[in-house]
Amino acid sequence: MGPRRQITFPLFGDGIFTQEGTAWKHSRELLRPQFSYKQYQDLEVFREHVDNLIENIPTDGSVVDLQPLFFRFTLDTTTAFLFGESVYSLKSAGPAGEPLFAEAFNTAQEYVAKRFRLLDLYWLIGGKKFYESCAAVHKFADDILDRGLKSVADADQKRHSRYVFLDVVAQDSRDRMALRHQMINIFAAGRDTTACLLSWTL
Ligand code: HEM
Repeated sequence: MGPRRQITFPLFGDGIFTQEGTAWKHSRELLRPQFSYKQYQDLEVFREHVDNLIENIPTDGSVVDLQPLFFRFTLDTTTAFLFGESVYSLKSAGPAGEPLFAEAFNTAQEYVAKRFRLLDLYWLIGGKKFYESCAAVHKFADDILDRGLKSVADADQKRHSRYVFLDVVAQDSRDRMALRHQMINIFAAGRDTTACLLSWTL
């Protein structure tokens, strides 16, 4: 994949998008059950988030920009699906630092996109703002991770009957950095793609 890993490393670290060979194969195996058809037969996990999305749409006929709502919607569904706990960013703008996260994630991704265009000269683009944005994204992921791992560790806690990616990667490795990076890779995969698809479709 050429210099992809170096280009994206400050944001994505080592995860399914940046790994190759056996490391990639391993990540892929961890994630595969998430994509089995069975996981999507029960759409209940989406219901409350769709309801929250609709609640955010004004009923007085005024103009609404749906794209930011779709980004919050996919953040909520991605976290619910993959980490077993939604950040509920549509419930209010405040919790889980979502606006800060979204801003930092967008900024960091803009830098990554520019680095991609330069390929081997990627290192010409970087700097304080890029690294600060990456740090904010990492903090957001770490906070979810801490909450998620706490519930994995809690033997009495009733675990979900469905496959939860975080549980599986947490069993696979307790290395915080590795977990964080896998999560950020999947965040990017699930959030932006689906939010953009919904925006373009509407
Ligand atoms: C409309 C929605 C989506 C589009 C357009 C899309 C598009 C893509 C594309 C183009 C790639 C290849 C990226 C590369 O060059 O490595 C990819 C890979 C991937 N996508 Fe999606 N995706 C979508 C939704 C999702 C969702 C919802 C998830 C999970 C939550 C997901 C998880 C992944 C993963 C894990 C990979 C890496 C696969 C691997 O390298 O083995 N995607 N996707």
